[in-house]
Amino acid sequence: MSPKEQLLQRIENRSAVVGVVGLGYVGLPLVQGFHDAGFRVVGVDVDARKVQALKEGRSYITDLSDEEVQHLQRSGRFHPTTDYRALEQADAILITVPTPLSKTRDPDISYVMAAVREIQKILRPGQVVVLESTTYPGTTDELVKPELEQSGLTCGRDFFLAFSPERINPGDSVYALRNTPKVVGGVDPDSTEVATRLYEQVIERVVPVSSAKVAEMSKLLENTFRSVNIALVNEMAIAANILQIDIWEVIEAAGTKPFGFMKFYPGPGIGGHCIPIDPHYLAWKLKTLNYNARFIELASEINTFMPRYVVTRIQDVLNEQAKPLKGSRILVLGVAYKPDVNDLRESPALDVMQLLLEKGVDLQYHDPYIPEVRIGRQVFRSVPLTPEVLRGADLTVILTHHSNVDYEAVVRHAPLVFDTRNATRGVQGAEQKVMKL
Ligand SMILES: NC(=O)c1ccc[n+]([C@@H]2O[C@H](COP(=O)([O-])OP(=O)(O)OC[C@H]3O[C@@H](n4cnc5c(N)ncnc54)[C@H](O)[C@@H]3O)[C@@H](O)[C@H]2O)c1
Repeated sequence: MSPKEQLLQRIENRSAVVGVVGLGYVGLPLVQGFHDAGFRVVGVDVDARKVQALKEGRSYITDLSDEEVQHLQRSGRFHPTTDYRALEQADAILITVPTPLSKTRDPDISYVMAAVREIQKILRPGQVVVLESTTYPGTTDELVKPELEQSGLTCGRDFFLAFSPERINPGDSVYALRNTPKVVGGVDPDSTEVATRLYEQVIERVVPVSSAKVAEMSKLLENTFRSVNIALVNEMAIAANILQIDIWEVIEAAGTKPFGFMKFYPGPGIGGHCIPIDPHYLAWKLKTLNYNARFIELASEINTFMPRYVVTRIQDVLNEQAKPLKGSRILVLGVAYKPDVNDLRESPALDVMQLLLEKGVDLQYHDPYIPEVRIGRQVFRSVPLTPEVLRGADLTVILTHHSNVDYEAVVRHAPLVFDTRNATRGVQGAEQKVMKL
């Protein structure tokens, strides 16, 4: 049997061992998916604390509970480690390490390449490697493949290589690994076939495409689409405010059109590991080819302006009460970058808080998922959301609309609210004391 046939057989009878490199928001749900489908899973992470937590049955992401991690441990089919050599036994290796921007806002694929260099050392015939970390078109073909071939093995004959963008949406109770279609593009047809068969074991619909580049670009199109549309609706929110029209009512009205329109909502900016970052991967790549991706730049400009806009609006709301920003007591409600997650990365709330502090605001925050926030040298701890805390603030500013917050109590006790997320819609009494973005 050829290495490909052997691998396909092991995938189909689920005797294949799956290796996941990078046990974060993306890697852990993959571990769980393959584990629950009956595979043996090896998880590698350079962060010894994460590996230790998993060994002790503790989760560090909201999408997986401690009980679920303990379940992985109890079965004896999940082996978390910091040692790459454990991947020798893996038939499939999925790479889910970070792809951030550097200080100069260029793609930083050093984590991917560090992982690939380690994998190269243990590569053997009959393995399939899939890069899942978001990156610019060409990474898999032009950087990952040559590095893996340093092993002396040939891609498409001895081992297989594909790109499959990760679409997991942390905090989403409807779409998880199994029911989110997955795009797969191999660097050659055999690689596409092997990787497709692998994901078909755990995902209902796998979408093979003709190349790794198509798969890489599809992810960047998806996230640029979001960034541009969020920027558009943010600009519409600014326009609606100038025109003294309620943007939220406008969006609901436009949203009744059954074709050609999709609802997006404004807010204090964009955050997380994906939307603020991924489009820049594409813009950077295009810049190297002398093309300036104007939509990407404009969307980024508008979205990064939003925290400043929110602070201006806060200033206006307080001004109506004859209060200056300086010395006002402001309670920020929700600092995670989106509802129902404990992820603070790139959160626009950090920018809003920073700007408020610069204006001399007496600041507090509450977030049920984020116990501590650092702004510069200052460390803030989440205050409990009691009637006293709400009553004591001149203004409560809702930046992230976690679903487990009692917005009726917020409206009942807070003297004044600025709601950037329309979290208080329909709450009794909101008309009198809530100002909306
Ligand atoms: N979080 C999301 O919602 C999401 C969604 C889709 C795609 N993505 C993409 O998936 C990738 C991973 O994102 P994430 O949110 O899971 O990041 P994360 O920071 O939560 O997890 C990455 C893990 O990789 C580990 N790591 C770093 N370098 C390593 C190395 N050389 N070897 C082994 N482990 C290493 C880190 O310690 C960390 O635990 C990124 O490219 C991201 O853009 C993320």
